[in-house]
Amino acid sequence: MAPENPFGEVLEDVRSIPPSVLVIFGASGDLTRRKLIPALYRLFHEGRLPASFSVIGNSRTSFSDEAYRQRQYEDLQRFLKDTPLEEEEWQRFAKRLFYIPGDMKDPALYQQIGAKIDALSGDTPHEVVFYLSTQPSFYPLAVDMLRESGIHRGAAKRRVVVEKPIGHDLESANQLEEHLAAAFDESDTYRIDHYLGKETVQNILAFRFANGIFEPLWNRRYIDHIQITAAESIGVEGRGAYYQEAGALRDMVQNHLLQVMATVMMEPYTRFAPGPVRDERAKLLRSIRIYKPDEVLSHSVSGQYGHARVGGEDLPGFREEEGVHAEAQTDTYAAVKLFVDNWRWSGVPVYIRTGKRLPKRVTDVAIQFRAAPKNMFAGRGEQDVAPNLMILRIQPDEGISLRFQSKRPGSGMRLRPVGMDFNYGSSFGTRTPEAYETLLLDALAGDPTLYIRQDMVEASWQVVMPILEVWRNTRFDFPNYAAGTWGPAASDAMLAQAGHAWRRP
Ligand SMILES: NC(=O)c1ccc[n+]([C@@H]2O[C@H](COP(=O)([O-])OP(=O)(O)OC[C@H]3O[C@@H](n4cnc5c(N)ncnc54)[C@H](OP(=O)(O)O)[C@@H]3O)[C@@H](O)[C@H]2O)c1
Repeated sequence: MAPENPFGEVLEDVRSIPPSVLVIFGASGDLTRRKLIPALYRLFHEGRLPASFSVIGNSRTSFSDEAYRQRQYEDLQRFLKDTPLEEEEWQRFAKRLFYIPGDMKDPALYQQIGAKIDALSGDTPHEVVFYLSTQPSFYPLAVDMLRESGIHRGAAKRRVVVEKPIGHDLESANQLEEHLAAAFDESDTYRIDHYLGKETVQNILAFRFANGIFEPLWNRRYIDHIQITAAESIGVEGRGAYYQEAGALRDMVQNHLLQVMATVMMEPYTRFAPGPVRDERAKLLRSIRIYKPDEVLSHSVSGQYGHARVGGEDLPGFREEEGVHAEAQTDTYAAVKLFVDNWRWSGVPVYIRTGKRLPKRVTDVAIQFRAAPKNMFAGRGEQDVAPNLMILRIQPDEGISLRFQSKRPGSGMRLRPVGMDFNYGSSFGTRTPEAYETLLLDALAGDPTLYIRQDMVEASWQVVMPILEVWRNTRFDFPNYAAGTWGPAASDAMLAQAGHAWRRP
């Protein structure tokens, strides 16, 4: 039964999901236990999965079906939020979980998976989604093995979902694409960027294109600049060895934040369907200015956190984290100043920053409007009237706020900025689905609107490659910001040059 929210609205998905099998490679991994299985359980709890639906998990660790189910039960107790884990419901869900141990390099594994898909499908051809949630170095191999085994095709649709990162650089992204394209049509290839599955990022589309009042202002005439922030307060949390090879620009900007930027700045699509929406996103990404090597250092800042004592706690510097080289040149902070060279946005700077060990966890987009053409209140002691600011709050505290000037109560004409606020939680009174719920359901429904197309992957690598290249050949004086602060001074200086300043969320 479709769930209701407290306002009695039935949250029905208009799509029907066909009988399906989801095959997860990397089924004992962190992503599966923390995100995928909890998302599937919630979808099951809300009656959104088809009546005939099964999961086949694979990794090398040896589990029987029963042992794998028990392990998932324990993980759900830890990771399932806002949904009760009731025995009777769990038992019904558990019956749909199967596990096949084996090495992805072994051709026999794919035959076993194929046989299991057939057995679970019975007389009704089931659609199949292969979800690659292993180390990225296995993606090409897995796709080749799927193709060689023949199980990439069947009587009903078969698709592949690829987790991030899509390549380590443009070249490896293109290489991966060769493997993918040999096995699956582009329309059956689902590249995840889980930011696009976030409710608040999807809501940017509703906000922009379901309202008449904002879009006329959404251009260079009224917008002064845009700031996109994705700050984390945590460090690398034991993933230092992995992070050392990635860095903030690769890990966050190339994928998530350029996608958020495209969502905020793309042209209206002709209709809400995978082709038109992704065409506009891709077009926007292709319009981002690509820097020449001598432009990179004035339009980007690389940072790395050093040790600090915050609130009585000793926070290690990045180079002191486990698995990290003592002279690592990794960026744990990245800031870039980008431009979109099209008619709508010409000359409007877009500042993007992301980092670890910043003062708080927050992701938002701040649209800074131009100041009123003339300050009518200067003579009343109001020299600096702050321009309007709209903040699209992606996480936490999801919502949208608008800052505008108001008269302070009392005699005289003194001003103060005030806020108008929309808050997801209080407006809808219902829990916000996690991105993975949305994205898994979309993959099962065959709806790639919120997935990344290959031309988008290439366009975003083209933006970051020159920056990565120059950074690779530059020796930075790291660490250049203390853990618990808002990043390197050079980042503030980059904005100050244009008379701008980072917001302190
Ligand atoms: N964790 C996250 O929050 C997160 C977020 C976004 C994206 N991702 C992406 O999702 C993917 C998975 O991440 P993760 O954190 O879950 O990684 P992980 O914890 O290291 O899991 C890797 C999985 O692959 C399996 N595996 C390794 N070698 C194998 C082989 N030869 N044959 C079969 N299975 C093998 C491992 O199980 P065995 O050792 O038992 O074989 C394990 O289940 C990565 O690409 C990552 O970038 C993760």
